[in-house]
Amino acid sequence: MIQQIQESASYIQQATNAFAPEFGIILGTGLGALVNEIDIAHSLSYADIPHFPVSTVESHSGRLIFGQLAGRNVIVMQGRFHYYEGYSMDQVVFPVRVMKLLGVQKLFVSNAAGGLNPQFNTSDLMVLTDHINLQPFNPLIGKNIDELGPRFPDMSEVYDEEMVRQAMVIAEDADFDLREGVYVSVPGPMLETKAEYRYLSVIGADAVGMSTVPEVIAARHMNMPVFAVSVITDMCTPDRIKKVALADILEAAAKAEPRMTMLIKELIRVQ
Ligand code: HPA
Repeated sequence: MIQQIQESASYIQQATNAFAPEFGIILGTGLGALVNEIDIAHSLSYADIPHFPVSTVESHSGRLIFGQLAGRNVIVMQGRFHYYEGYSMDQVVFPVRVMKLLGVQKLFVSNAAGGLNPQFNTSDLMVLTDHINLQPFNPLIGKNIDELGPRFPDMSEVYDEEMVRQAMVIAEDADFDLREGVYVSVPGPMLETKAEYRYLSVIGADAVGMSTVPEVIAARHMNMPVFAVSVITDMCTPDRIKKVALADILEAAAKAEPRMTMLIKELIRVQ
């Protein structure tokens, strides 16, 4: 595994003239517009990078972008891998591990999520302050890769508290409501039943989605500080639940995209 990660990283270094990214960004469903803000230096298709998994979801495009955002060197995953697509957890987190070898110091993650907290509304942004992992597997199970991190990594401050604070200040200055909350990661791909939404709310989650937590676990294993934000694409409280289609999720994400883009850009500027 470590050898594959190293081979991917050295291919990327050659293909990008040793581009040195400071920050890594993973863009979630319907949230690709951040790429338009980047001064792109290089762009690689996942399919061309040795050992890289290839994206199958139609709403995820599958490119690694290298360039400058707010004057800082970033590497952006346009399209991520989900466990429900049939990838192993090792494959889901493979790009995050490659990012670490390329020198990435902090990870920024976005996703689309269902709202469980009754105070939320569709197209709200929620900064993750903590998470609950309900995925059936996780990327650290198996022999520990000692080169990457310890056997029993600490998860008591999984999301960087300083970056959460900075994000709240940015949102306040820009005059929009930024929510904070706990994200629960479920395997999917089906959305939840009413009883499941109720259960997720009772166990302490404010939003539910099918991604993020595996990548965050891999990043924290490597001691990389993480910032993550959800776009609430549909409300899942008993009074507001309705049938959701991917088109509705994409529409709600598109509405939130300018705020999301601004937030991540300004947050990167102050690191
Ligand atoms: N559940 C799980 N994942 C999601 C949802 C949801 O309601 N909305 C967007 N992603």
